Amino acid sequence: MAKYKIAWLTGDGCGQDVMAAARIVLERIGLDADYVPGDIGWEFWCNEGEALPQRTIDLMKGTDCAFFGAITSKGKDKADKELKPELQGKGDNYRSPIVRMRQLLDLYICLRPCKAYPGNPLNYKEGIDIVVFRENTEGLYIGVEYPTVPEEFYAVKGMEKIPRNAAISLRAITPESSERIVRAAFEYARKDKRPKVTAVHKANVIRQTDGVFMEAARKVAAEYPDIPLEDANIDAMGMWLLKNPLNYGVIVTTNLFGDIISDLCAQMVGGLGFGCSGNIGTSYAVFEPTHGSAPKYAGQYKVNPIATILAAKMMLDWLGEKDKAARLEGAVAAVIAEGKVRTYDMGGSQGTLDMANAIAAKL
Ligand code: IPM
Ligand code: MG
Repeated sequence: MAKYKIAWLTGDGCGQDVMAAARIVLERIGLDADYVPGDIGWEFWCNEGEALPQRTIDLMKGTDCAFFGAITSKGKDKADKELKPELQGKGDNYRSPIVRMRQLLDLYICLRPCKAYPGNPLNYKEGIDIVVFRENTEGLYIGVEYPTVPEEFYAVKGMEKIPRNAAISLRAITPESSERIVRAAFEYARKDKRPKVTAVHKANVIRQTDGVFMEAARKVAAEYPDIPLEDANIDAMGMWLLKNPLNYGVIVTTNLFGDIISDLCAQMVGGLGFGCSGNIGTSYAVFEPTHGSAPKYAGQYKVNPIATILAAKMMLDWLGEKDKAARLEGAVAAVIAEGKVRTYDMGGSQGTLDMANAIAAKL
């Protein structure tokens, strides 16, 4: 029996391309693992009314962690229309499978390292090395939404000004979830010898929920007197990041702000082809590239697999395979620095598997 059992969730579109690339490097590095394929994706929504079937969740529960490719998601109107005829009107409201996984398995840390590997022609500035800790279970992602204002909401002060036809989305932030994500950020800062942690919010406007978040941040920060806590409003943070990205190392924030700021940070180190992500709980984790399924490139083996390969590096780290993780990152860095193999996004003409093979050759 292999040492690890990994749920292998390819998903849609270019998911299969980048997952094939990840497999090449994982096999080469000699990870002793069984990879168990699981059903997930758009076809399962259309045929079963569920993009993340229960059997896949059960399968995940029997594995050490999961590796996930990409998924096509569509807005409500399109999602409902594409259900097969027998399921019309029965689909339980399309919800993003990755968001469901994060909540169902309580993967409360969304860890997104954004490092400018030297020699990447897409770097915004050399030396960027930012790690985003995004709260991954609540905030505006709780999925409690109303197409119009429920009558009982008018009992709440201030609501009388809101027209009945307003759609409503609720944002929930608890002290517990805020504390644990902030603690994860501080632990990382301490281990990785980072000089400070920056908490990002909009507490001047979203006073209650971001008030809870910032109170939790200050409370946890007090346990780490050697590491200063700095805070910034989300809007200003966007400007500061572009102006002075080297000033930031560890960022911690709520779910939606983390979604936004992590794309900004990823773009500064090469964009979609470089954004990797770990969804991490206390005993389970799901690793994925941050990008989507890019349907137009599906099966063309054209997209850059580095994001997915860096997600594999994160998985190795999380499994405790530190040496393999470091070797894999070294190989990625070497191929980027050398500049001989470049996918289209990097201005080159090589494909997904060329990149994976070049990285594997350095291992
Ligand atoms: C991400 C993605 C997801 C999110 C989408 C696909 C639901 O943008 O992982 O950042 O919003 O969290
Ligand atoms: Mg996102």
